[in-house]
Amino acid sequence: MDGNGRWAHRHSLPRALGHQQGVKALHEAVRTCGDIGVKYLTVYAFSTENWHRPRKEITGLLNLMASSIDAEHLGLMKNNVRVHTIGHASDLPDKVRTKFQKLVSDTAQNTGLTFTLAISYGGRAEILDAFRKAMNQKKIPESEQDIAAMLYDPSLPDPDLLIRTGGEKRISNFLLWQLAYTELYFTDTLWPDFDKKELLAAIEEFGHRQRRFGRI
Ligand code: IPE
Ligand code: MG
Repeated sequence: MDGNGRWAHRHSLPRALGHQQGVKALHEAVRTCGDIGVKYLTVYAFSTENWHRPRKEITGLLNLMASSIDAEHLGLMKNNVRVHTIGHASDLPDKVRTKFQKLVSDTAQNTGLTFTLAISYGGRAEILDAFRKAMNQKKIPESEQDIAAMLYDPSLPDPDLLIRTGGEKRISNFLLWQLAYTELYFTDTLWPDFDKKELLAAIEEFGHRQRRFGRI
């Protein structure tokens, strides 16, 4: 979800308002995915690198997470959405972390869309953590499945489609292991402008891709 800051700049607004607008776009994306039967949606909400932003912006983002959880809790339940998180939740202030924990446990029995928020997430950190887990369990991974089983959330299948908004054409440390065969879709649209129509267009394009997984 990239481009909140530039969206705000273009509208002569403070960056914080770009992030607020970004939450609206996320609300619409979750709703659309649920409606059209997408089983898994994972969003990059906050990276390990984002901790290097100015303190004021970080505080604003953490407060926005807290208020958005409050505002969306009921709707997520009603829409049968199951919320997961991946990343170092322990980096979050207690107030935000416990809100996320409650959201995850309250929605655990829901059977619709699995909506995963990557928070304080880094792909390399995830792989390093998998090594540590293996060491602690004294288990040497013998297959790719063994490694996948050590990742933050082994219940998540590898993504079919990655969408990056905001014009950059890079992965930026997102789901490095899981993206091996994922179709990549890059759009200049800034995240707050990424609406239902844009999402459906991305999925439509994905439908025309030929996936060969190294075969012919
Ligand atoms: C993405 O928007 C949102 C988060 C990382 C939380 P940015 O804040 O990166 O927006 P730009 O890239 O400055 O436009
Ligand atoms: Mg950015």
